[in-house]
Amino acid sequence: MAKKQTNGNGAGASGERIAIVTGLRTPFAKQGTAYRDLSALDLGKLVVSELLARAELDPREVGMCVYGQVVPSLSAPNIAREIVLGTGMPKDIEAFSVSRACATSFQSMTSAAEAMLAGQHTVAVTGGADSASDVPIAVSKPLANALVEAAKAKSLPDKLRIFAKLSPRDLVPVPPALKEPTTGLTMGESAEKMAREGGIAREEQDAFAHRSHTRAAKAWADGVFAEEVMHVVPAPRYDRPIAEDNLVRKDSALEGYSKLKPVFDRKYGTVTAGNSSPLTDGASALLLMTESKAKALGYTPLGYLKAWAYAALDPGGWMLMGPSYATPLALDHAGLRLKDMDLVDMHEAFAAQILCNKQAFSSKKFAEEKLGRPEAIGEIDEAKFNVHGGSIAIGHPFAATGARMVTTALRELKRRGGRYGLATACAAGGLGAAVILEVDA
Ligand SMILES: CC(C)(COP(=O)(O)OP(=O)(O)OC[C@H]1O[C@@H](n2cnc3c(N)ncnc32)[C@H](O)[C@@H]1OP(=O)(O)O)[C@@H](O)C(=O)NCCC(=O)NCCS
Repeated sequence: MAKKQTNGNGAGASGERIAIVTGLRTPFAKQGTAYRDLSALDLGKLVVSELLARAELDPREVGMCVYGQVVPSLSAPNIAREIVLGTGMPKDIEAFSVSRACATSFQSMTSAAEAMLAGQHTVAVTGGADSASDVPIAVSKPLANALVEAAKAKSLPDKLRIFAKLSPRDLVPVPPALKEPTTGLTMGESAEKMAREGGIAREEQDAFAHRSHTRAAKAWADGVFAEEVMHVVPAPRYDRPIAEDNLVRKDSALEGYSKLKPVFDRKYGTVTAGNSSPLTDGASALLLMTESKAKALGYTPLGYLKAWAYAALDPGGWMLMGPSYATPLALDHAGLRLKDMDLVDMHEAFAAQILCNKQAFSSKKFAEEKLGRPEAIGEIDEAKFNVHGGSIAIGHPFAATGARMVTTALRELKRRGGRYGLATACAAGGLGAAVILEVDA
């Protein structure tokens, strides 16, 4: 049972709401493609510069920047501050970086909201960026020790003696671990475990992934994403502009999915490249203001952040169940029920994870046993669920996903005349995030 959580209410003591004035993202690109030569920081700077330009905001109005990155950068560990310094914003804008795995840009948004509700700032830039193409490659522990020792050695022969102790194996580079340190399982292996124990069939997973691609392709074709996705002309050649996500399959065919081999349990598994979110590069950003500041500057916000919650569960269990733990807390905080939501957007780490969470939402047994609540969270209405696809099709640059979901959900709420939306994500370490968004009629 999730006992310790963090949650917040978007209306502070003053009754001031946190306005999400606008949001923007880069197109998302498969690892090693359009943004092969760009870092997360490069992508973050591109999107924040464009966000400010489109908002026609005097950057001197910005009080703080909270930005996130999941894959660590050795050269720019505080990406938020580098974004301030690299986008022409005044240098006296304070900034800090956050990481909450796949929920990172929910965290950057709510951290900024907390500062604003505490009266510290009235305008903030938030978001997140990740590059799966630009991952830090580490050296082995023996080589790292030898380098440190050699740096202190007095003479060249001493240095050579230190390196002579290394074996060829010690020289092999170490890629970043995608495994949970506590369980030793990758995300994909956790999804396999959930599919197996939850009885989620391969066909159901494939059908869900096909739904995601079909919906995202339609959204692109219908112009739904046009205003929330900028165009990028990637360095260093500046000759191949990218205007759309390059992972969305415009010709998704259900038969194609069944041919793919499982990747995380090659013998008995059901999780494949087709029904997983792919490794992706991209960035997103949000412009937040207190409601009164937005009004004073003449903005009509996309909507408001009504409430939020984070929760945690044992990663050794069903690691990707975060939405089922965080959502009821955020709903409580907003004083709302799932049936009040006009839209539900859940981060699609894997189709198996989505289907397990959907089951849990509608299960009284799950509510009683895992949440200590008498009633199920509620049945998710298909007509309101991930209506424009999700991370399986669009891609998942870890830190950029939350802000993508918030922007799309708010625009869609406006489009369909809805009032409330839920955006929720699972995250590494058994974490969950949920935010309740509100749009004025
Ligand atoms: C699953 C994963 C290992 C696949 O990586 P990959 O093998 O590089 O994936 P690819 O995109 O190259 O796809 C492999 C093949 O499947 C095919 N494929 C993928 N999706 C398909 C689909 N929907 N329909 C038909 N074919 C598809 C690709 O075309 C490719 O075929 P090819 O080998 O003939 O080119 C990788 O995406 C991954 O690790 N994802 C999980 C990321 C993660 O952990 N996220 C955290 C979640 S919070």
